[in-house]
Amino acid sequence: MATADWTAIEALPRIPLKQLFADDASRLALLTTDVAGIHFDFSKTHLDAAALDAFIALAKASDLAGKREALFAGEPVNVTEGRAAEHTAERGEGSDDSVARAAAYHARMRGLIDAIEAEALGPIRHILHIGIGGSALGPELLIDALGREGGRYDVAIVSNVDGCALEEAIADFDPHATLIAVASKTFTTTETLLNAESALDWMREHGVEDPYGHVVALTAAPDKAIEWGVDETRVLPFAESVGGRYSLWSSIGFPAALALGWDAFEALLEGGAEMDRHFRLTDLRSNAPVLAAFADLYYTQNRHCETRGVFAYDERLRLLPPYLQQLEMESNGKGVTADGQPVGRPTAPITWGGVGTDAQHAVFQLLHQGTHLVPLEFVAVIEPGDDLAEDHHRQLLINAFAQGAALMAGRANADPARAYPGDRPSTTILLDELDPRTLGALIAFYEQRTFVGAALLGINPFDQFGVELGKEMARAADKGGQDFDPSTDDLIRRAFG
Ligand code: F6P
Repeated sequence: MATADWTAIEALPRIPLKQLFADDASRLALLTTDVAGIHFDFSKTHLDAAALDAFIALAKASDLAGKREALFAGEPVNVTEGRAAEHTAERGEGSDDSVARAAAYHARMRGLIDAIEAEALGPIRHILHIGIGGSALGPELLIDALGREGGRYDVAIVSNVDGCALEEAIADFDPHATLIAVASKTFTTTETLLNAESALDWMREHGVEDPYGHVVALTAAPDKAIEWGVDETRVLPFAESVGGRYSLWSSIGFPAALALGWDAFEALLEGGAEMDRHFRLTDLRSNAPVLAAFADLYYTQNRHCETRGVFAYDERLRLLPPYLQQLEMESNGKGVTADGQPVGRPTAPITWGGVGTDAQHAVFQLLHQGTHLVPLEFVAVIEPGDDLAEDHHRQLLINAFAQGAALMAGRANADPARAYPGDRPSTTILLDELDPRTLGALIAFYEQRTFVGAALLGINPFDQFGVELGKEMARAADKGGQDFDPSTDDLIRRAFG
């Protein structure tokens, strides 16, 4: 295997976007692809045929194909923790054993959902989902995107240890008609367990006789959940090899499966599987996650961009940017390679973003005229989610497309304050409609794009040791008796005396 050599990427000439379009009549065909009801347009990025060649050489030298097969085969690709990363098995793509195990866990989840629907736990109307990070962001995105018309259950997702979050969530809930879903892969996370204890107290204070009887645990550590007090019959396990930020496909997706219905959850899994098959079987040149990762790496390595902006031009996808922040920054925000060497080049850019058209009236000034080059991503849906006059959705889409055009075109002006430099890149992701299948495919696209970025950089996207030191110091500060530094000691004294 050749060694990955980035000099060809770093040396790619910086040809303006308008010239790239002028020079190649087939540019649109070269840099667009369609998968699972989603159109991906990378033509307003600076990728061109030469850049694709350079990246494909890099992909070969980094053994992308081998790493991809190892991922799907359930090999221990998470080398620092010595385990596999088997989120694709949850959607039916993986080794036979892992797919069968995931299917068995799904069947158990479905059984419990059927029992809840049949009121085996009483007349449940509210679902209080307690989890944090990957144990909250995924289900929250799914329910916010797909459950807008409401349904049988009100769902509240609580993550922050700040009591204001839990208080707000339960303000309108009837404790006698509430199901608490405690979601924690490890079942050791301080915030989650404290929120869960407080939710049980709230039930007790309101006369619920058997609060634990209203609790479901979603976890890869079933023994810990049982020890904490959840009855074994209401523990929904998932495999240890499913990472937290990749876990919405597992029992962590329980509130979405319950609130949206089992058929919707299955369609979500199938959409994800469709994207997996595309990623696995399609030539790199028309492979959506691969092209997206190439563009990401072009901007970090050749143009030294430090951030990337994601703007959902659809209110239903407003939680996509925070979801992607965890997925991309926790996965690829690393400083060493999988074998522990300094990586020696920028890794994940900072993912940020918001919702269009709101962001246009707040942060787009910097994007059009500021000194930072920020590759942008517009995510939009052709079918509207609202029933108002057609003009609402038309204005929404027109604005998304116009922003991409304006950023690229720029405009000269004798007054520098009124001039637009242009040549600013964007990717557009256009869904035919937003339904469980397309959302599943979209989320899997982002997962696989993150994987390709990691594979080419030679880093492990599946660990997150960076979060541990802060947790450890919080535990020590909580215990007391330990000095930190003059500033921290002073802050602790001011707050707690
Ligand atoms: O602290 C980071 C993290 O471990 C994330 O990776 C994870 O999604 C989150 O905390 C929650 O962890 P758990 O599901 O184990 O409670």
